[in-house]
Amino acid sequence: MNKIAPSMLDCDFTRLGEELRRVEQAGAFVIHLDIMDGVFVPAMTFGDRICAAANRVTDLPLDVHLMVQKPLNFIQGFADAGADYITVHAESDEPLAAIREINRLGLTAGLSVKPNTPFDAILQFLDEVGLALIMTVEPGKGGQAFMPDMLAKVSAIKNAAHLRGKENLVVSIDGGVNPTNAASAIAAGADWLVAGSCLFKSGDLNGVMTGLQNA
Ligand code: DX5
Ligand code: ZN
Repeated sequence: MNKIAPSMLDCDFTRLGEELRRVEQAGAFVIHLDIMDGVFVPAMTFGDRICAAANRVTDLPLDVHLMVQKPLNFIQGFADAGADYITVHAESDEPLAAIREINRLGLTAGLSVKPNTPFDAILQFLDEVGLALIMTVEPGKGGQAFMPDMLAKVSAIKNAAHLRGKENLVVSIDGGVNPTNAASAIAAGADWLVAGSCLFKSGDLNGVMTGLQNA
């Protein structure tokens, strides 16, 4: 069964607890929290207090995606709030220092690349991360169209990890994922699928989750 990481970005925040329980009962693997600072990307979302609230509701691991210019400013707060994975962007400030701080705190560090950033931007960090997040949309909002040509990056990073004996590297994709494109992502080597609007805007969360899990 495919491992699904629901992005809470487009859930009903007036019922965050219920939404978390819904995706957990539907078989979510981890909870993906999209943190945006209004600088690295134009939008601003939420901070570590929402992460701490989610941590009080679900026992699932929390997969925090920092779309922020200065990730070093946020890591301790999300670690204290219960994050299990913290992913920073190769395009943000001091990504290696951020990765090392995440590792120092005993969490799993991830590195993400935007669509226009070549996959080999990850290679310099590969030995120090446990997760690679390939953006399949331009980061900043949910509900965008999937960019299938990003799947070549998934295969390339999977191969690079294999060549370095990093068989445990989690390769995740994020943005525009739905049951019609999930199979191609899995075939390309994706281990996790982040999905937001297809789950929370469909009116059939359980059906869409099943479609993603079985793609
Ligand atoms: C985009 C976020 C994605 C996105 C996923 O900046 O990182 O997680 O919200 O949402 P959908 O699945 O709606 O593209
Ligand atoms: Zn994300």
